[in-house]
Amino acid sequence: MSRLVVVSNRVAVPDAQSATAGGLAVALRDALQSCGGVWFGWSGKTAAQTAEKPAITEVGPVTYATLDLGRKDYNEYYNGFANRTLWPLFHYRLDLAEFSHENYTGYLRVNTLFADKLRPLIEDDDHIWVHDYHMIPLGRELRALGVEHPMGFYLHTPFPALEVLLALPSHALLVKSLCAYDVIGFQTENDLRAFRDYIHYETKGELIDEQTFHAYGRVVRAEVFPIGIERGQMEEASARAVELGAARRLERTLHNRSLMIGVDRLDYSKGIPERFRSFERFLETYPDHRGQVSMMQIAPLSRSEVPEYKAIRDELEGLAGYINGRYGDFDWMPLHYLTKNFQRETLAGFFRLSRVGVVTPLRDGMNLVAKEYVASQDPSYPGVLVLSRFAGAARELDAALLVNPYDHDGVAAALHQGLVMSLEERRERWESMIAKVRDNSLEHWREAFLSVLRAVPTLAERRAGT
Ligand code: G6P
Repeated sequence: MSRLVVVSNRVAVPDAQSATAGGLAVALRDALQSCGGVWFGWSGKTAAQTAEKPAITEVGPVTYATLDLGRKDYNEYYNGFANRTLWPLFHYRLDLAEFSHENYTGYLRVNTLFADKLRPLIEDDDHIWVHDYHMIPLGRELRALGVEHPMGFYLHTPFPALEVLLALPSHALLVKSLCAYDVIGFQTENDLRAFRDYIHYETKGELIDEQTFHAYGRVVRAEVFPIGIERGQMEEASARAVELGAARRLERTLHNRSLMIGVDRLDYSKGIPERFRSFERFLETYPDHRGQVSMMQIAPLSRSEVPEYKAIRDELEGLAGYINGRYGDFDWMPLHYLTKNFQRETLAGFFRLSRVGVVTPLRDGMNLVAKEYVASQDPSYPGVLVLSRFAGAARELDAALLVNPYDHDGVAAALHQGLVMSLEERRERWESMIAKVRDNSLEHWREAFLSVLRAVPTLAERRAGT
């Protein structure tokens, strides 16, 4: 099997902390281990100047190559265009998107630089798989350097509707850059439809069939590959973790009260303030639950240097204080709000203890927490998932209580419904959801994408064929 070159902003270089690597990191590493190859990207570190050469770590057949970024590059590329322009825009937050020419230039510069540094590491037979919105122009930059290899791109975020994308001054070049890849993967049909709309209405592109089109002189395949979680991992971890220290201690603090749980990176796309307001509405509308149920929101800090992330942190602190001040009692705290990070195994135990999992993003590519919550349940006594219809996961997990996160009354009613639902209905809904979580696993996602990418002939195969 030919080698694989994976490119992503963050690289999971195996080290002493590798035990804590997330599912996606493990899945990509496994793929690289089996066929050999390179994983290239940012080191996660900043320096006065961007490094001249990538730092190399060899582990078996895999080369991990990472670059430190200089402050200016880091600010314009990562904090700037990736996370203040593309991220809010792709999550339908035009109100938060900042359009700075300087940041855009920095984004393009860093992608050009990544292409330059990656080029010497690519061998003739390789397949290249690029991930996420940080790296959209990379493929085009590689093509400019003469890289004719099969190249795939997977977008982990939503792809915005045409009218939203058009607000981006550089939308045309961005989509043209996407078309430099041979295969483009999206999370959901919605995203693929939005992309097809763009090709259809904004370019002279021609749709050949549902998944293939001709644009900018190239034939490109665009397909849906919904991402999942590792097969069996959370199911086993939660059964184990619920017997361990942290979950046991949490259970003791509940004093037989029910627990509702939310776990999200602290990001405005996750709808956490709206969730807190819905929880307040729930306490207001269903007073019988007061003193009987607590909500735990775990929200590890993320992208803390970006002003919009600082602002949402302040907002949440205010809201949590307000709700606890208004409704709490000397022996009951309605809302537990923590920005601390927990190991996934510990979370699995927390999920299993929670009667309701609350996953209410305003917009999300997929949302793996929803799937992790389902996988962590005790099959004989499962909890209820309250899920935003705007999470990609809602497509598959349609047996959840689907809600509109902007509708506080609706979410409050779903929280109530989750708490009073019969065991029979909980089991029925859970069985339907777990079947989908198991079928659409992370391994399945990876293999599905790679099989389409590997069907594109390598350079060597094309040369042999001529
Ligand atoms: C989202 C993005 C990923 C990103 C992750 C964490 O899931 O799709 O590409 O790595 O958030 O964000 P961070 O900025 O810390 O890498």
